[in-house]
Amino acid sequence: MSFPENFLWGGATAANQIEGGYLEGGKGLSIQDVLPHGLKTPPTAGPTPDNLKQVAIDFYHRYPEDIKLFAEMGFKVFRFSIAWSRIFPNGDETEPNEEGLQFYDNVLTELEKYGIEPLVTLSHYETPLHLARQYGGWRNRELIGFFERYARTVMERYRGRVKYWLTFNEINSILHAPFLNGGIEGNPSEQERYQAIHHELVASGSVTQIAHEIDPDNKVGCMILAIPRYPLTPHPNDIRKTQEATQRDLAFGDVHVRGQYPGYLKRYLRDKGIELEITAGDVEKLQHTVDFVSFSYYLSVCEGDGEASGGELMGGVRNPYLETSEWGWQIDPGGLRYILNELWDRWQKPLFIVENGLGARDENLEDDYRIAYHRAHLQAVREALADGVDLIGYTSWGCIDLVSASTAEMSKRYGFIHVDRDDDGTGTLQRSRKKSFYWYRDVIASNGEVL
Ligand code: BG6
Repeated sequence: MSFPENFLWGGATAANQIEGGYLEGGKGLSIQDVLPHGLKTPPTAGPTPDNLKQVAIDFYHRYPEDIKLFAEMGFKVFRFSIAWSRIFPNGDETEPNEEGLQFYDNVLTELEKYGIEPLVTLSHYETPLHLARQYGGWRNRELIGFFERYARTVMERYRGRVKYWLTFNEINSILHAPFLNGGIEGNPSEQERYQAIHHELVASGSVTQIAHEIDPDNKVGCMILAIPRYPLTPHPNDIRKTQEATQRDLAFGDVHVRGQYPGYLKRYLRDKGIELEITAGDVEKLQHTVDFVSFSYYLSVCEGDGEASGGELMGGVRNPYLETSEWGWQIDPGGLRYILNELWDRWQKPLFIVENGLGARDENLEDDYRIAYHRAHLQAVREALADGVDLIGYTSWGCIDLVSASTAEMSKRYGFIHVDRDDDGTGTLQRSRKKSFYWYRDVIASNGEVL
């Protein structure tokens, strides 16, 4: 079984991790401007000069060169996010910032030159800071309206030019990283986290409706952090723990796909004494379900009584059978076949792998370990296709080196393209092709026959 014809091969990024130009073109601050060290330290009061994301890899000025390199690899699709704060600098304005809109017009024009399909994330961990600090982030119902206005603005502006949209990046991470995902500071209660996620789900449903109204050809996907969880032992307690944790991961996907809260989540909320404010309007908006399901995949974890996994966000314990990346993430290509089958069986919606990759320290451009990682994962994808999974495409994460989300480092590199920039902010920003660049180019050229 091979990859389908028209399979969308490409790469993925997010505005705050590549663009830089953090105050250029009328852009406002986002929560990333107060996270100079990722998840390692609490948000700062305002921007600080040690934040690598202020310049990132300067995509804001270098996008023509970068897109040309993507085209050289044969990309069919490029995933990027629109920085909400470029379009509505504070998030609550009534009129958009024309210069911000123009920037993405230019990016789209460049992609069109090479016939590369855009895949646009509307909210990728970059809520406008003003909405976080003045409104309390997604805890506040008012954000639904601001997000609707923002989405309508960009969907009208780029009508006919962008077809694939994602609403919230890794929506399920809000339970573990409320500031990054939801712009909620401090240590919100579970009640607040679930209310915030409810607002995001309603906003997502509403924006799906808006997208279809604006252009019936629009395809809207949700985006979940996919993480296979295996029982550490066959003990029934581990089995149950695994099921519960998996349900926690997939609950919001269930809402996105089925348009209502699953029974197990209602029970969980009831048991915890959490009462959500859900209006009749919310119930209606939730019914606008997604066209496809996209997800990120990096690692798997076990559930049971063991040593904490290095999986950063999502908990779980270490799997004794797997190797670990330099950042403690457990590498599990078979987990990708497993999760593709699980998600397809559960939802019967086309799937899209929109992130997958290896963060590693590169000593030089000979990144054989990165090739090995992608090769093994794509072999697993091929198996899943043979299992009958419906898959739209694969965008490798950080197709060009960028600033890491969890640690805000440059040295955690994912790219097929090297960017000369170091953790201390030094470097020429020059781009160079790694060995993996040529490998991925050949994979795409052969539509996955040559891995
Ligand atoms: C995903 C995010 O969680 O993982 C990306 O959507 C992020 O923004 C990626 O960069 C890899 O994580 P990290 O922390 O290695 O950058």
